[in-house]
Amino acid sequence: MMASEFTYDGGVKRIRLLGSGGIGDVFLVQMQNSNYFAFKTLNSQNIFNKKALQSLKTEYDMLSNLVHPNIIRAHGWANILGDIGILMEYIDGHNPSWEKFVSAPVKKKICQAVRYLRSLPQPIVHNDIKPSNVIVEPTGRVVLLDFSAAYYCGTTPPKIGRPE
Ligand SMILES: Nc1ncnc2c1ncn2[C@@H]1O[C@H](COP(=O)(O)OP(=O)(O)OP(=O)(O)O)[C@@H](O)[C@H]1O
Ligand SMILES: [Mg+2]
Repeated sequence: MMASEFTYDGGVKRIRLLGSGGIGDVFLVQMQNSNYFAFKTLNSQNIFNKKALQSLKTEYDMLSNLVHPNIIRAHGWANILGDIGILMEYIDGHNPSWEKFVSAPVKKKICQAVRYLRSLPQPIVHNDIKPSNVIVEPTGRVVLLDFSAAYYCGTTPPKIGRPE
């Protein structure tokens, strides 16, 4: 699916909070066609914070161009029941423990994601690789997410969303 802009004002259900951090809350949402997605929006402290919104949009713009099995896939910049944010694939898995994070199979897949980011015409530095920014599916698929601190090589790293 091409990444694009959507507005959902009916028939969408917020199922539960999947996680939260500095500026964002990530919710599991279910569409009218019953498909699940993850939706990253500003948390209540940052709803009126223009810089936080700009940071989330920048994260989306970067993510929307990335296609790799070990990187979260963004589907669109969406307005869901009045909240704006990133609509992305839902990964049904868990943040790895530290032991799992540093295990050879997980490390190898994260390195594949990093190699892909480095190989782009405009190479990207993720800048915040840690267990809470990785999800491992029961199938063993490893997915790198949270590009809020990421930047294009040679540009200034963002101030908002720096590593906690
Ligand atoms: N697409 C997804 N599918 C399933 N769970 C997700 C997804 N995106 C995020 N999560 C969960 O939500 C948590 C927080 O997401 P993320 O790291 O993107 O946001 P954050 O740390 O709150 O962001 P920020 O650093 O921008 O404030 C993750 O650790 C993960 O457990
Ligand atoms: Mg995070």
